[in-house]
Amino acid sequence: MSEKALNKKNVIITGAGIGIGKATALAFGKKNYRVIVTDILEAEGLQTVAEINTAGGVAEFHILDVTSTPQTDALVNDIETLYGPIDCLVANAGIAHRIPLDELTDEKWDRTFDIDLKGMMRLVRAAAGKMKTLDDGSIICLSSIMGVAYGWDEHVAYSAAKAGVVGLVRALAVELAKDGIRVNGVAPGYIKTAQALSVQHSLGEAGLEQAASFIPMGRVGDPEDIADVIVFLASDSSRYLTGQVLTVDGGLMVGRY
Ligand SMILES: NC(=O)c1ccc[n+]([C@@H]2O[C@H](COP(=O)([O-])OP(=O)(O)OC[C@H]3O[C@@H](n4cnc5c(N)ncnc54)[C@H](O)[C@@H]3O)[C@@H](O)[C@H]2O)c1
Repeated sequence: MSEKALNKKNVIITGAGIGIGKATALAFGKKNYRVIVTDILEAEGLQTVAEINTAGGVAEFHILDVTSTPQTDALVNDIETLYGPIDCLVANAGIAHRIPLDELTDEKWDRTFDIDLKGMMRLVRAAAGKMKTLDDGSIICLSSIMGVAYGWDEHVAYSAAKAGVVGLVRALAVELAKDGIRVNGVAPGYIKTAQALSVQHSLGEAGLEQAASFIPMGRVGDPEDIADVIVFLASDSSRYLTGQVLTVDGGLMVGRY
C-alpha cells in the first residue's frame, strides 16, 4: 500500500456512480478517506473512482447491489480484510418509482423497500461488528423530504420507505451509541440528479425549474449541497449529533405555506 493510502479512513458509499452518491464520493476523496465507491452501474462507478484518483485521492470501485445480502457481506468482509474496520458508511442507493396505487403490486412495493430501506440495514449489519472495535464511526442514511414531511403523490412505497429510514436511523443510533458509532440521516429537498430529472418518475427539468420558484433560496439543490452535509455528519464537528435526520432543502419545508 502506498504511503498516501496507509493512514486513510475507510468510507463505503452505495450508489456512488452518479448523483448525490458520486458527489459524496468526490467530497470524501478530498478528505482523509479511502473511498470505496459501490454501485450496480460499473462504468459510472469507475468514472467516479478515476475522478477521485486524478484529484489526488484514494478510491476503488466494487460492484454492489444493495438487495443482495451475500454481496453486501462479502464486500464488507473484503474491505475489512484489506484495510481494517470501516469508519464510515453512506447508505445512499435508492430508487423513486412513480407507481399509482392501483398498479402498486406486492412486487413493486417490495422492490422499493428492498433497495431504499432493507438495503441500508444490510450494509450497516455487515459493517457494524468491526466498526464497534474502533469505538468511533459514523453512519449516514439518505431519507427524503418525501419521507420526513410530505406525502408524494403516486409514490406511496417511496414515501413509506423514506419514512422508514427515519426509524432506522433512530433505532440504530440508540443501539450503536454505546460503541461510539453515530447514526444520522439526511433528507434532501429537490436535488438536480437523474432521479429528480426523470419525467416519468419525478419532476423532470421543467418541474424542477418550477420548484425553484417556491424554494425560499430560489434554486433547487446540487448534489454537492448534500455531499457537504454528509461529510460534516462523518466528521468530528458533528461528534455530539446522533439519531437525527437533517433536512437540506433550501428552506422549502419551512417556507412553503
Ligand atoms: N435527487 C433528489 O431530489 C433526492 C431527494 C431526496 C432524496 N434523495 C435520495 O438520495 C439518494 C440518491 O439519489 P440521487 O438523486 O442521487 O439518485 P440517482 O438516481 O441519481 O442515483 C441513485 C443511485 O443508486 C443506485 N442504485 C439503484 N438501485 C441500486 C441497487 N439495487 N444497488 C445499488 N445501487 C443502486 C443507482 O445506480 C444510482 O447510482 C437516494 O436514496 C434518493 O432517494 C434524492
